[in-house]
Amino acid sequence: MEEHQGKHSASHFYAVRAEKSTTPLQQAARTIYLNKTCYNGLFRLNSQSHFNVPLGKQTSPEIVQADRLRACAQALQGVDLACQDFRLLRAKKGDFVYLDPPYDGGYTGYTPQGFQKQDQADLAKLAFALHERGVKLLISNADTPFVRRLYGGETFRIEQVRGPRSLNCRGSGRKPAKELIISNTSGPSLAPLVIDHLTGRYGLDPSWGTLACAAWKEDL
Ligand SMILES: C[S@@+](CC[C@H](N)C(=O)[O-])C[C@H]1O[C@@H](n2cnc3c(N)ncnc32)[C@H](O)[C@@H]1O
Repeated sequence: MEEHQGKHSASHFYAVRAEKSTTPLQQAARTIYLNKTCYNGLFRLNSQSHFNVPLGKQTSPEIVQADRLRACAQALQGVDLACQDFRLLRAKKGDFVYLDPPYDGGYTGYTPQGFQKQDQADLAKLAFALHERGVKLLISNADTPFVRRLYGGETFRIEQVRGPRSLNCRGSGRKPAKELIISNTSGPSLAPLVIDHLTGRYGLDPSWGTLACAAWKEDL
C-alpha cells in the first residue's frame, strides 16, 4: 500500500489496473489502491471481468489508512467472508442479514451479468424465505413502484429515506435519491443505521462512492 502511495501517478494507476495474477495480499492492496484513486471510487468490471474504471480526479488520495484497516481486521475476526451469488446465501433463525443489491433502475455494472428485474425478483423471494425461517432482514433499494410491489404486503416495513449519491458524471446530478429501507424487525426503525452508513458516520467518506464494496454478509 505504501509502495502504491509513493508511486501514485496516472502511469502507475494504469499499470496496476492492467495487472492480472498476484498473491491475495497484493490483490487486496491493488483493490484498495484502485478504489481510492479511480473515478469516484466506482467499481465496474468489463465483459472479461477486469476492472475498467479510469483514473479519478482526486488530488491527494489517502491510500494508506492503517488505523481503519486494523479496525476492520479486528471487527472481522472470526467472520467468514464469501464472494458469491446471493442465491447461495445460507442463514439460520436469529441471524441478521443486510441486503444491499444494485438498485432497481440504477447502476448495475458491478459484474458482467449486471442485475436484472429477475434478479430483483429472486432476491425478494429469498427475503421472504429468510423471513419465514426467522432471519432478521434489512434491505436497501431504490424507491420504485417495482420494488414496492416486490416487498409489498404485511411482511415488511417499508420506509422512504433520502440517501446521498456520489456517483454521477455531473456534480450537480449528485442529488439525494429517494431510497427504500425494507425490514422485518419489530421495534425502532433501522433506517437511521443505513443513513449513518451512507453518510459516513462510521468512517466512510461520503465523497467516495459507497457502492464499491462487496454487499452480502452472512451470519452477522
Ligand atoms: C449497492 S452495491 C453494495 C454496496 C455496499 N453495501 C457498500 O456500501 O459499499 C451492490 C453490490 O451487489 C453486488 N452484486 C451484484 N450482483 C450480485 C449477485 N448476483 N450476488 C451477490 N452480490 C451481487 C455487487 O458486486 C455490489 O458489490
